[in-house]
Amino acid sequence: MKNGVFNLVLLLLILSSDLMANEVNQRLTQKSLSPIEIKQGQQLFEQVCASCHSKDLSGASGFNLKDAEWVHGNKPEAILHNVKTGFANAGMPAFGAIFTESQLESIVAYVISKREGWDNLSYKLYQLNGEHDKEITADKLVKSGSLPKGFADYSIPEIEHYFIEFEGDFYAPKNMDSQLWLQWGFPHEYNVFIDGLQVHKGGTAWFPTWGLKRGKQRLKVTYHSGTSKPGQRNLIVYVTNLDMTIKLFALSSRAEQIMAGKNYEITASNKAVVERKRINELPPYTISVGLPSKINYAFNTKSCSIVGLWSGDMLNIGPNIDGRGDFPSLPLGDLVFKYPKQIKFEPSHSCKYLGYTTLNDVPVFKFQIQNETYQFWGESNSSKEISFYWQLTGHKNLRLSLPQVDSIQWQDHNGKTVENGFDAMPNKEQQVLLKAVIKQ
Ligand code: HEC
Repeated sequence: MKNGVFNLVLLLLILSSDLMANEVNQRLTQKSLSPIEIKQGQQLFEQVCASCHSKDLSGASGFNLKDAEWVHGNKPEAILHNVKTGFANAGMPAFGAIFTESQLESIVAYVISKREGWDNLSYKLYQLNGEHDKEITADKLVKSGSLPKGFADYSIPEIEHYFIEFEGDFYAPKNMDSQLWLQWGFPHEYNVFIDGLQVHKGGTAWFPTWGLKRGKQRLKVTYHSGTSKPGQRNLIVYVTNLDMTIKLFALSSRAEQIMAGKNYEITASNKAVVERKRINELPPYTISVGLPSKINYAFNTKSCSIVGLWSGDMLNIGPNIDGRGDFPSLPLGDLVFKYPKQIKFEPSHSCKYLGYTTLNDVPVFKFQIQNETYQFWGESNSSKEISFYWQLTGHKNLRLSLPQVDSIQWQDHNGKTVENGFDAMPNKEQQVLLKAVIKQ
């Protein structure tokens, strides 16, 4: 009898702690949909977690926090618990006493909101009778299982003629349209289903694509070995943006292998870095400069305009290394302005770019406009401001149009605020100074 009561109490305890965990999971999932929570969480994350988990959550000394692989539990409640207690042995401090409960929850909400790729992924493999057999029936099922790493693994089948399907919850970016891309699509019989409906195949025969929904969806991809050769079957599938300039993340394990180790970040540490790689969303012939104070700008050698400014880390040139060199690099950090917004000579004349040299670790660009030779460089002591200098040789004034950006205050060499049109008188040294102060 006593034992019975004890068991009942134990059962109730277990049930109620389960109920509480469920409540926490639900609350955190709700919060992960709230822009205010996410914003607060992001700020805290970038202050305290990004140094180990990287700003885009892809992991550094700490684990990747946006993929499917969770070593210590993937439930929101488990993540919250882990952030509170930390992993002293592995070098992660405990944050339970550092932040309030609501701050901690907003951090976890932010982490959850950044989820990408597959979750609860499973596969089913069917043995077919020859390459033309199209009948997928339960009796042909030979193997099934789950894939905790969240990548479709096309190396699973060890049989000649087969049909394989991968299905799970799938998280696509929430803030942009994206698509699946099967690299080298022909001659594969590949089909995609979202929330039970077949998705229309786009792209070309060799580079087929399938549009994704934003955010969470149920994704199923199927593959019929058909007339393909065994050596062709380890499919490379990525999620890309719609114009295919960015490989966002891998869908198949082969694509993951290709991307791994190729996320190559360039950041100026103690010296300025000059990078000529094409940059996503910026015009061609743009050179980017990262300064050690963690502010970066982009100089276009066709127009001699400043076509981009961002603070924080410099570039991820990773997506560019692979393939045929047509994948531009991604600016990291926070974009302040980008082309078509620009700092531009007025009126516009053609510009002749003469190259750059590095003086005292500062890259200096040289160019000619209407027979006047200019040198241009940027100097900065903080990620929140940068001073642009133009060195003139003649006695001309310089007229620049400035991008209209709420977050920048433009100042001249006297510290006076400058509006969008900048008629600058050079100082004694024939220099024009334009300073960008980033607010917040
Ligand atoms: C000083 C480095 C460091 C900092 C700062 C740090 N972490 Fe970690 N974190 C780690 C390491 C290392 C691990 C891996 C622990 C292990 O090896 O088991 C980890 C693991 C985790 C895990 C478990 C991942 C899994 O796969 O289950 C979560 C969740 C996590 N960190 C979240 C955070 C959050 C949120 C913050 C900021 C509040 C943070 N971490 C700050 C180093 C850090």
